[in-house]
Amino acid sequence: MEGSIKMREKVKRLLKEKNAIMLAHNYQLPEIQDTADMCGDSLELSRKAARTDADIIVFCGVHFMAETASILSPDKTVLLPRKDAGCEMADMITAASLKARLAQLPHMPVVTYVNSTAEVKALSTICCTSANVVKVTESLDADEILMTPDRNLAKYAESQTGKKIHIWDGCCPFHDRLTPDQVSTARQAHPDAVFMAHPECRPEILEMADVIASTSGMIAHAKAAPESEFIVGTEVGLLHTLNKQNPGKKFYPASEALLCKDMKKITLKDVVSCLENLTGEVKVPEEIRVPALAAVERMIAI
Ligand code: 13P
Ligand code: SF4
Repeated sequence: MEGSIKMREKVKRLLKEKNAIMLAHNYQLPEIQDTADMCGDSLELSRKAARTDADIIVFCGVHFMAETASILSPDKTVLLPRKDAGCEMADMITAASLKARLAQLPHMPVVTYVNSTAEVKALSTICCTSANVVKVTESLDADEILMTPDRNLAKYAESQTGKKIHIWDGCCPFHDRLTPDQVSTARQAHPDAVFMAHPECRPEILEMADVIASTSGMIAHAKAAPESEFIVGTEVGLLHTLNKQNPGKKFYPASEALLCKDMKKITLKDVVSCLENLTGEVKVPEEIRVPALAAVERMIAI
């Protein structure tokens, strides 16, 4: 405990010395969330960081999130404290595989979830988040679209809009693994709890949900809701934020197995090391950044 307080103080001192800002995704380890200047979902964090006058952004999340920060803040140095913190969903599509699919679906508008590499965003018409996927889909002047890389998010968008969606067969392996049996078991243990599910979960899970929301949507819902118990159908890291912000309420994981190992890689020691040595820089080259930014900006404009 004392060691971790010392480490936190060291991080704070280094952040000040280097005019840096530390961002943490809602799934990060508690010690990271508690030390960061801002916690949130990936797009929210990148947008807020772009508006600060920090020279350096330390992004505690996964690689695609640091890329998004670099896309929105090309003049800042973006550091990812663990270069090997990746996203299995983002790795399920590449620029080459998307080009091959588009050869079969010429002129098809492409909606790409922000959980994707900059290269894939650069080939897309528009980006979306789990919070705005329905709005983005409805905004397109087309009856058919290709949605990448999350098949569950695409099926959710299809169920909420009248559009034909060509689905990319990717997923978040952790959200995709949540089963109806696990949800039923949690419901039996906590019969009064509201079940909140992330749209990265399978359709049969979303059918069981009282609330379907992104991580920031779950935070907002739990705060405003009159109920005091919630079953959380997303990565277990979010429980830390939910417990911290709602001391009088109770939160239960839908399954303890909903744990993303890449989101748990970064420790305070890694943050200290990357700030001391300015290592782990993520920089998106201009020829990819410019078209990727266009896809992100089209989404922001909606
Ligand atoms: P959000 O925080 O945007 O809901 O994303 C969930 C996720 O899986 C991030 O990796
Ligand atoms: Fe990727 Fe899933 Fe981990 Fe989010 S939780 S970073 S989508 S693997």
